[in-house]
Amino acid sequence: MQNKKHLRKKSSVWHPNTQMKEWQSFDEIVQGKGVWLIDSQGNKMIDAVASMWCNVWGHSKKELVAAITNQAKKVQHSSMFNLTNEPAEQLADKLIEISPGMHKVFYSDNGSSAMEISFKLALQYWNNVGEKNKSKIATLENGYHGDTFGAMAVGYVPQFFGKFKKQLFSTLQFPVPNPYRTPKGYTNLDYQNYCLEKIEKTFSRDDKIAAFVMESGAQVAGGVVIYPKGFQNKISKICKKHNVLFVLDEIATGFGRLGSMIQYTEQKSTPDIVAYGKMLTGGYLTMAATLASKKIYDSFLGEFNDWKHLFHGHTYTGNPIAAAVSLENLKLYQKNNLIKKIQKTSKVFEKYYGEISQLESVGDIRHKGMLMGIELVTDKKKKTPIHPKKSINKIFFEEGKKNGIYLRTLGNIVMLVPPLAITEKELDLLLNRTILTIKSAQKQVL
Ligand SMILES: Cc1ncc(COP(=O)(O)O)c(C=O)c1O
Repeated sequence: MQNKKHLRKKSSVWHPNTQMKEWQSFDEIVQGKGVWLIDSQGNKMIDAVASMWCNVWGHSKKELVAAITNQAKKVQHSSMFNLTNEPAEQLADKLIEISPGMHKVFYSDNGSSAMEISFKLALQYWNNVGEKNKSKIATLENGYHGDTFGAMAVGYVPQFFGKFKKQLFSTLQFPVPNPYRTPKGYTNLDYQNYCLEKIEKTFSRDDKIAAFVMESGAQVAGGVVIYPKGFQNKISKICKKHNVLFVLDEIATGFGRLGSMIQYTEQKSTPDIVAYGKMLTGGYLTMAATLASKKIYDSFLGEFNDWKHLFHGHTYTGNPIAAAVSLENLKLYQKNNLIKKIQKTSKVFEKYYGEISQLESVGDIRHKGMLMGIELVTDKKKKTPIHPKKSINKIFFEEGKKNGIYLRTLGNIVMLVPPLAITEKELDLLLNRTILTIKSAQKQVL
């Protein structure tokens, strides 16, 4: 293992979501090999966050590297404005093939943009069909859809985005059931029904609601809140009944993260619009996609001067290298039967429930597929979230490094989001090292 410090003397980089004053330097990653990240001192760490939840096969997968270099030799980028390219065409066909109910693919280059596009599609749809009053967006509390303005408005986390509140459009937010924090006086099922009834009641009174937007299967950034069985399906039904578009964000939860390729098929809740990102390229390049049903797409068709077309486009929309690596990635999913493998490998997490939950600071464990959230509390009975002055993330990152794992916590939640193809042996190692890390880090935060 490690802890030799490598200090870069001078850096001009401003890091994301980081209190820069806390950090004197950042370790420099110079190589990735399978689930391992290797820094400039030769220290190895297991990539326990799949490089921000996107890595599928581990690093330096030769087929993916070859797909990138092969395409780079042909054409590196050509725009989708008036033109098209073969990898983007083939990828769109493939995405439609695996996404029941979807008809067309609109490309972008990150998840936040894919969500912005989904909002624009939903809002303009109602305009296109002459229902101009339908302009409100409804969503779940605690959701996260990215860091751009529309995404902040819909996935509004007061602690992060409160400073921009005045500039954000308002949304209707509904509570989400989290069995660990079911309010007093309710059973889990009662509370779930209460949440659904609130949506139903509002929808039956308010005909101005254009769309309901939610993460599919679970809220990830919101602290790994896994929806109870049937919850998402029931929301989709309420939407249908009340003529509200159903928009899903599968950016973090699709493509196997929760153990199924397309999470909405497992949840039996076909959307009108869905967004993919992160794992689409295997975690190698930046690409995202927003898919729409035929009903949505057809509403945008008209004469040129009807001005019904979608005013949206990015420089790198449909980038051929990103599309080529995505296509190869999807081929590998099939060739390696990855989803079945994830379902088997992810059972390794279950072996450690007992040991993890006995740790002094652990209040709750939430797990599905290749995602685990470990909630840290100061008092197990009162369920008080740990909230020290110093960032928990930094403490866990430093302790994780000593144990040879790259960790990033979210608030008081330790996130385990490994590369999807991690082996059982590697996952065992990761979980053992996580336990060691919690043991040493909790001394500093309790
Ligand atoms: C559910 C969800 N939606 C959207 C995004 C935003 O994606 P990006 O960071 O690529 O903009 C994220 C990122 O973590 C996410 O978890």
